[in-house]
Amino acid sequence: MQPKLTAKTRCTDGEVGTVSKVIVDPLSREISHVVVRESNGQGADRRVPISQVQAVPNEEEIVLGCSSEAFGQFPVLDRDAYVTIHDVEIAHLEDHLHVEPGEILVPYPRLERGVPRRRFFTNMTHAIGTLIALPLVFPVLKYLMKPMYKPFDNSWFSIGNVRKIKKENIGYQFKFQKGFQEAFMPEQQIEKNIWVVKATPEVQKTVYGGKDKKFYDHKGNLIWMNKATSPYIGYSGKCPHLGCGYKWRRTKNFPDGVFLCPCHLSIYDEAGKVLDGPAPRPLDVLPMQVNAAGEVQVIDIEYKAGVRNQVRLL
Ligand code: FES
Repeated sequence: MQPKLTAKTRCTDGEVGTVSKVIVDPLSREISHVVVRESNGQGADRRVPISQVQAVPNEEEIVLGCSSEAFGQFPVLDRDAYVTIHDVEIAHLEDHLHVEPGEILVPYPRLERGVPRRRFFTNMTHAIGTLIALPLVFPVLKYLMKPMYKPFDNSWFSIGNVRKIKKENIGYQFKFQKGFQEAFMPEQQIEKNIWVVKATPEVQKTVYGGKDKKFYDHKGNLIWMNKATSPYIGYSGKCPHLGCGYKWRRTKNFPDGVFLCPCHLSIYDEAGKVLDGPAPRPLDVLPMQVNAAGEVQVIDIEYKAGVRNQVRLL
């Protein structure tokens, strides 16, 4: 049974408060802590490890295995160290947890600054994340293996109009359908997406370093150059870590927005630069052109995930 977020919380010697939030480990997707709002004193939110929950007799009540004095020693929640699952969109987490109403929190990786702990977190993310991802996300596994669909497809196709992008340095998602075919299988349409940023000169400089970006076909022939001064920059919709889809999100620490990947919480700025998380390289810039009518055209290149350098797969 899972407690409601309003469940009363009892210690061995009496009631101490009510559950106000839960904290979830983004990797195991299990509750790691309950946050209990004290019913006396300042009404502080205390972070109680789930291991302290001895029983959940019914939806309205949880029982801790400690005394109220020991409860008072649990740390007060630092709300800024967490984001809600709406910020990171961990797929189907709410279905799994059945806790409502209220906030389900996950730790915010930018605050994982202690080096030994950070290294531990990164290694754990790689190890456990891979274990979790592989059986669940077969397409991701296929994405890591080469080559799966057709050979390099260098055709241009339209994804939408840039007039939809109103502000600079904000991620805007274009969705589109693309046909693909595996050996001996009928062609299927899959939904894909590309993020486009209307970039300021500073962001253009960060992305291109003042040099036009060249793209090649499988024989090594130049097929296109993105101009270093091009105001629109398109990023592949797949996270370079393990290929998950990411989102543009405003968070407390990044009120202007960042690209946030829900799978292992890699964070990228508007120039695609990795700010935090296990991603091995920046977001992948795609060949892109915008015609006089504002129509965006791209070549939908796919690169191998999980490696530092770009290795073209499709
Ligand atoms: S797939 Fe792991 S951080 Fe995006």
